[in-house]
Amino acid sequence: MKHISLTEINEWDRFYRANFINSLSGFKSATLIGTLKENRQPNLALFSNIFHVGAQPAVIGFVNRPREAAPHTLANIERTGVYTMNLVPEKYIAQAHQSSAKFKIETDEFLASGFSTQFVDKVDAPFVAESIVKYALQLLEIIPVRHNQTFIVLGSVTHVIIDDGLVSNDGFIHLEKANTITSLGIDGYYSTSLQSRYKYAKADEPVVKIV
Ligand SMILES: Cc1cc2nc3c(=O)[nH]c(=O)nc-3n(C[C@H](O)[C@H](O)[C@H](O)COP(=O)(O)O)c2cc1C
Repeated sequence: MKHISLTEINEWDRFYRANFINSLSGFKSATLIGTLKENRQPNLALFSNIFHVGAQPAVIGFVNRPREAAPHTLANIERTGVYTMNLVPEKYIAQAHQSSAKFKIETDEFLASGFSTQFVDKVDAPFVAESIVKYALQLLEIIPVRHNQTFIVLGSVTHVIIDDGLVSNDGFIHLEKANTITSLGIDGYYSTSLQSRYKYAKADEPVVKIV
């Protein structure tokens, strides 16, 4: 096994380092975030640093890069407080990747990347029509990370739109049946398959496989 020190990491070419460090924390949920610009034109971009913060209240977070690198989604959320997260079906990987391009502010990023908008009652932000697992959020908090000028954006889940057949009796969502993708690093995309599910682990009992 290789042992890599921070000194070595700091000496790497920046693209090599970006690929390596971005892959290191593992597979992520490739998610399209839909927002509305000031003129109500839809905005879309791909994000993968999405994480569960709590179930009651239902809070989900994401990491936004420094403002200069990824300005539009953040500014729209700051202004409107509303945004959608849309998981990416396998057959739309290329379109999703395209949505990460630095588009000019006047570009409709749904159109430019090949997705359609879907508006639902009481949600003032666009969903991705092609996504079959999607949810809307209300902004709770934007936490600036002083160390590297990124932002942690926390939102509470207000609406969920999901295909019925994906949710099992205990609430577990079989995302592998939705063929949503997972991503690795800044440009790798993967399909998923369920290996197993287990009962809640207890210190004094052996693990019990349920699926
Ligand atoms: C696979 C992948 C994952 C990405 N994940 C993030 C992320 O978690 N946070 C982020 O700020 N940008 C991420 N990006 C980059 C944004 O998609 C990109 O900066 C985009 O232009 C932001 O658009 P906006 O200015 O409309 O918000 C990712 C790009 C790719 C290809």
